[in-house]
Amino acid sequence: MSPSPPTSSTLTRNESLTLFTITSACLTVLANALREDAEIPLIVSLALSGFAFAASYALIRWLGPTFMRAGFRGADLAKATRREIPECMGAVCAAVYLFVMILFVPFVFYRDVVAATSGGGNRDVVLPQAQQLDVERGVFLHRFPHSKLASYLSAMVSLHTVASLGLADDLFDIRWRHKFFIPAFAAIPLLVVYAVDFGVTSVVVPRLLQPYLGPLIDLGGLYYVYMAAFAIFAPNSINILAGINGIEVAQSIVIASLLALNDTLYLLPPDTLIPRLAGVSSKPHPHPATDSHLFSLSFLIPFLGVSFALLCHNAYPARVFVGDTYCYFAGTVFVVVGILGHFSKTLMLLLVPQIFNFVYSAPQLFGLVPCPRHRLPRFNARTGLLEPSVTVWAEDKQPKGLVKWGLQVLGRLGLLRVVTERGEDGRERIVETSNFTILNLWLVWRGPMKESRLTLEMTVVQAAVGLAGLVVRYRLALLVFSQDNI
Ligand code: UD1
Ligand code: MG
Repeated sequence: MSPSPPTSSTLTRNESLTLFTITSACLTVLANALREDAEIPLIVSLALSGFAFAASYALIRWLGPTFMRAGFRGADLAKATRREIPECMGAVCAAVYLFVMILFVPFVFYRDVVAATSGGGNRDVVLPQAQQLDVERGVFLHRFPHSKLASYLSAMVSLHTVASLGLADDLFDIRWRHKFFIPAFAAIPLLVVYAVDFGVTSVVVPRLLQPYLGPLIDLGGLYYVYMAAFAIFAPNSINILAGINGIEVAQSIVIASLLALNDTLYLLPPDTLIPRLAGVSSKPHPHPATDSHLFSLSFLIPFLGVSFALLCHNAYPARVFVGDTYCYFAGTVFVVVGILGHFSKTLMLLLVPQIFNFVYSAPQLFGLVPCPRHRLPRFNARTGLLEPSVTVWAEDKQPKGLVKWGLQVLGRLGLLRVVTERGEDGRERIVETSNFTILNLWLVWRGPMKESRLTLEMTVVQAAVGLAGLVVRYRLALLVFSQDNI
């Protein structure tokens, strides 16, 4: 039987001491940064993230009973005793994250330094070389120009919107076909400001097609359709790769860490170890895309801070659930960095397991195969292990035509468990098929296993596929594209 999770909403002495130490260290760094007008915002970002970790960790613990009283609770379906625990704790992470990101603004943007005015109150004569100074001193991890604040704030509005709509989803349990579009609404501020502020809608054409299309092709409005589709896909794809303790947060942490690794490739001097390993040591330094990657890191580091705190509580045996709020929020953080950093293709490589799960889920998402409310693996109380959950096909509701053929083909390819039996009339009928999720498929392939083991194995798969994606990105991309995306 699974161990029963602790119920207390107070911190233990050890926890309090650790969180106090982390908070004190981070506040000291912040105080120093304030005094010295810190040159390297990344240090501030790390300190704020440490603070965000401690704050989220404590708040998630303290607010558990309050959330449960407000109706944010759910039963852990893969346990022998289906205890209810607090749900929607991603909302706490989102709140702490947004708060910390606002505190970060004075550290990361230049003051709009005005040397003089040209009359009439016009603040248009700005100190011209503020940014240049840093480059001359070799400080590439500089602050952003004031003009980037619009993008930063649009990202904040989008994240804020998605967190509120996610909260509404957790509260009202919105139907699948409606909630699918929640992230699209949240992406509107991001896309509108992108159009005004940045407006790049061109993409690099692969070498093969360059004689016909030229080196760049302007997709115009289509690029916005692509970004909107991406903004719908990423959050939803995380929400449906869910249902076992820790999986939502663990996959998000892996994706965010790999994105951060990708960012550091552009920030480190090219002759250091990581860029050399990635084969990008010929990149110019500072790389033209430095700003985009620094920007991306400033969103990812605090996200990692709050996510690790959530994982501590959501890991097996879960004491809280993350809620749809977290899944949408995490997906939107990735959308924000992918779109503003203009590296959504690289991000796609890190989302390969999610893309696979989404495509694989399509028959159930689009109603070809019945889709139960929950598709998470089934807990076998006798063995204590997880098994693939199934869709049962009644005798009078047998799949027909293409669907039947499709199920049989998938079954033969080992991509689905199909159980059949011969009826009294001698005809074979389908009794049950495993549900179309990567978690169930993994169990079909690897056999029943403990919940914690399934989370671990899927996290390793996520990391391995993501790393392979990055290798492909850096080692092979130049075979297909004539230049790196700058
Ligand atoms: C999505 C999936 C659904 C899956 C669910 C699990 C689709 C179309 N929908 O629905 O198949 O069952 O996520 O999150 O693929 N839960 C656990 N253990 C966990 C996490 C969640 O038992 O580790 C259960 C709890 O009862 C919790 C509930 O799942 O209350 C949360 O489900 P919710 O996130 O609302 O489901 P959806 O996102 O709608
Ligand atoms: Mg969910």
